[in-house]
This record gives sequence, structure tokens and C-alpha cells, in this order.
Amino acid sequence: MKKAMIATFSQSGSTNKIADQIEKGITSGEWDIDRINIGQNSNTDVSGYDLVGIGSPTYFFNPPFIVQDFVNELKGLKNKPTFVFVLHGTYVGDCGNWIRRTLKMKEAKDYGYFTSYGVDYWMGYIKRGTMFSPDSPTKKELHSAEEFGKSVINSFSEQQQNKIAPFDPPTPFVYRIERLLVARSSVKSFYYKTFTVNSDCNNCGICVEKCPVNNITQQEDGTLKWDSNCQLCATCEMNCPKDAIRSSLDWKTMDPFMNYNIRISKKKKIPFVHVKHTHGKTQLVEN
Ligand SMILES: Cc1cc2nc3c(=O)[nH]c(=O)nc-3n(C[C@H](O)[C@H](O)[C@H](O)COP(=O)(O)O)c2cc1C
Repeated sequence: MKKAMIATFSQSGSTNKIADQIEKGITSGEWDIDRINIGQNSNTDVSGYDLVGIGSPTYFFNPPFIVQDFVNELKGLKNKPTFVFVLHGTYVGDCGNWIRRTLKMKEAKDYGYFTSYGVDYWMGYIKRGTMFSPDSPTKKELHSAEEFGKSVINSFSEQQQNKIAPFDPPTPFVYRIERLLVARSSVKSFYYKTFTVNSDCNNCGICVEKCPVNNITQQEDGTLKWDSNCQLCATCEMNCPKDAIRSSLDWKTMDPFMNYNIRISKKKKIPFVHVKHTHGKTQLVEN
């Protein structure tokens, strides 16, 4: 039996939904599949696998830092058949390109690339009343993911990289500036310190529990501490039932960027709904 690994990072579930379908497509053949949660598994030696898949959400037009670290640390990729799939809300940017380029540098073989919309459950937009692609991945996208899994296996059986999917177009200038503003060095030295908690906090610990990278700790006196491994996903802020957490996303200086992205994405007709977010819950509102 052939062995495959599918490694994913998924904060709000879209990447894992697509991974499930790809897995279904692959296992229509004779395959044993290991599913790996990036960040919870330290084994980065993939030499024991016949096929390696990496699935990632897009964060600021790139893979999240934790995915970048994982891919950078992968060993045993020489001539290894690989595939990449990427979820995104409004614009994928260089997320897929980054992973595919890094795998190529490690001399892996590219057996397929797949992208899909995922629900854009990101506080930056939700705070401003908009949630993009609320129904994604749709039935159609899930079906395409299964077909993608089958096509990877076809390429594998024929031992050839069928038509290699082209790389995504370069990220536009404004988005590159935005990405620069949240460069890893700035997040590590500065942004993680911008999370604050007001007196409404009742020490429920939900933010600690929900942080996808275990970056928040509750001190003995109950106060919360954010560490520098922050991915800037704002899952903590989004899930707080007391609306007690604030971050750089609340700064007025962020408004022009967020509003620009929202305006452009609506113009591009990316599906969206109007929402209101309070006490850790996002609710639909009428137009
Ligand atoms: C911190 C953060 C940054 C994001 N940046 C982008 C982005 O640059 N472009 C984009 O299209 N979507 C962006 N998104 C949306 C996610 O890529 C999208 O919601 C994806 O479906 C999340 O996958 P998951 O549900 O597996 O976590 C961002 C989401 C978060 C939380």
C-alpha cells in the first residue's frame, strides 16, 4: 500500500474541509493517508512517504508563519511527488507560489496545485461589517477538490507531472505594501504586544483555548500574556464572549487599508454578506 501525508493548518476549518475531499479523491485508489496538523507535529522528515500534500490558508497574501516554518523545515523531499492546496478569502497573492517555490527549491516534484475560496472569517473585515465568501467551500468547490485528489493520483500512477499548473500572478503593489506592514519581524517585535484586555475580561480562558498556535498563557493572577509566536489571526479577539480584547486591528490607521481591500473585493464581485460581531459571535444583518 502506498503512503501519503496531507499536512494542513486550519484556523476556521475551510482548509481541512478541502483536505477531507482531496483525501477522498486519493483514497479512491489504494492509499494509506496520514493527516498532520501543522504546529502539532514535530516530525518534518517526509522520506517515508510516497506523496506529500501541503494545505494552507492565505494570511496576508502568504502562508501563515507557522506553515512557512513547517515547509522550510521539511526534509527528504528530493524527487518526492508533492501537491499544494491553498484556501483564500479575497485574494490569494503569493500563498501558493511561496509553498510551491520552497518545495521546488528542495527538489520536490510538483504533481498538482489547487485553490479554493474559504469562508473569510477574519476580524479585520468582520469588524467593519463584511464577511466574504460565507458559503465557501461550496459543494462545487468540495467536488472539485475531490477531483483534484484523483488527478494527483493519476499523475502519480503515470509517474509524470502532467500539465503543471501555472504559478499565481504576482501580488499587486498595494497588497505588497500591506504585507510589508505585517512582516514577520514586525509581528515578532511589535504587533503581538498590541493585544490588550480591558476590565470586562472574566478570565474564562476561551482565548487561550482557541489560539491555534497556543500563543496565549494565563498567568497565576489570571492576567493574559501574548507571546511573540502570534500569527495575527485575531482568533482570540474574535472569540472573546466579553468583547474584552483589543488589538492593532482596532486602530483607525488600519481603516484605509481594510476599507480599500473591502471596496476592491466587492468590485471584483467576491460574494459577501453584511455581519455584526459581538460577544464572540458573528451574525448576519439585513442590508
Ligand atoms: C490573519 C488572516 C489573514 C488573512 N489574509 C488573507 C489574504 O491575504 N488573502 C485572502 O484571500 N484571504 C485571507 N484570509 C482569509 C483566509 O485565507 C480564509 O479565511 C481561509 O479560508 C481560512 O482557512 P481556514 O478556515 O482553514 O483557517 C486571512 C485570514 C486571516 C485569519
